[in-house]
Amino acid sequence: MPDLTEAVSEIADAMAREQRRGTVASYIPELAKVDLDQFGITVSTLDGDICCAGDADVPFSIQSVSKVFTLTLALGSIGDALWHRVGREPSGNSFNSIVQLEHEKGLPRNPFINAGALVVSDVVLAGHPPRVAIGSILRFIRWLADDEDIAIDETVARSEAATGFRNMALAAYMKSFGNLVHPVEMTLGVYVHQCAVAMTCRQLATAGHFLADGGGRSSTGHRVVSPERARRINALMLTCGHYDGSGDFAFRVGLPGKSGVGGGILAIVPGRASVAVWSPGLNQHGNSLLGTLALERLAKAMGWSVF
Ligand code: DON
Repeated sequence: MPDLTEAVSEIADAMAREQRRGTVASYIPELAKVDLDQFGITVSTLDGDICCAGDADVPFSIQSVSKVFTLTLALGSIGDALWHRVGREPSGNSFNSIVQLEHEKGLPRNPFINAGALVVSDVVLAGHPPRVAIGSILRFIRWLADDEDIAIDETVARSEAATGFRNMALAAYMKSFGNLVHPVEMTLGVYVHQCAVAMTCRQLATAGHFLADGGGRSSTGHRVVSPERARRINALMLTCGHYDGSGDFAFRVGLPGKSGVGGGILAIVPGRASVAVWSPGLNQHGNSLLGTLALERLAKAMGWSVF
């Protein structure tokens, strides 16, 4: 059996030496300020080991990784009725694309592209004021991570709210098809705040652990979702979690994963471990360049691909 601690520390060393770093997201001005030279990794195993290296305790903007947690909440609130408002197919387009929405009558392809995640935020709103929905998302993430010290970075939320014209367009377009219940400003308010949650790799790996653990949290005895729902969320992460780079991620890493434009990736090794990696430089699909490379090496070293 390969040694996990050794594999993780070798990968962190290799990533520190890596010349290629990708580019930071610049369309959200606040994210463009993040130092490219950072890399963190945490592996949380079902045996209870937590293995960290590099900048594993530096908080970063989780951005689209938050979509895993809001999807879990929305499914908890309306169950399979969600699938009348959002699909379950990869889009093959970039995360903020609008093109399919016209032919597909305002029904986003999946809950992880921006359009789909906006519908999910609309479901989480459920008639409450946005601050109530934002509070419940934050409480859910803190509970999953078993850490009260997780907050929303208001500067990032404001930065995105002021410049997120694509998301405004997506929300308004879906509203015209009747696929948003609330005023677009309210849905967008929830969405930019969930994206602005700041977490460390250690916190993110812990928060995602239930997806590796068949929906449960063996450490506390709580159940988050049923095994069937955990399996389905993992399936969506594998097929849609990296947008138009999902095929490449499955090919190289072979694990369910959800990326964020802040450079974080949550990857799930079903029945074994959850992994969070973070490095702010992105590849051409808007997914962490070094994060993907690190996961590719980890999956190979540990024999963890699901295939
Ligand atoms: O809506 C946006 O564009 C960002 N808040 C999140 C996008 C994102 O993280 C895409 N991921 N790789």
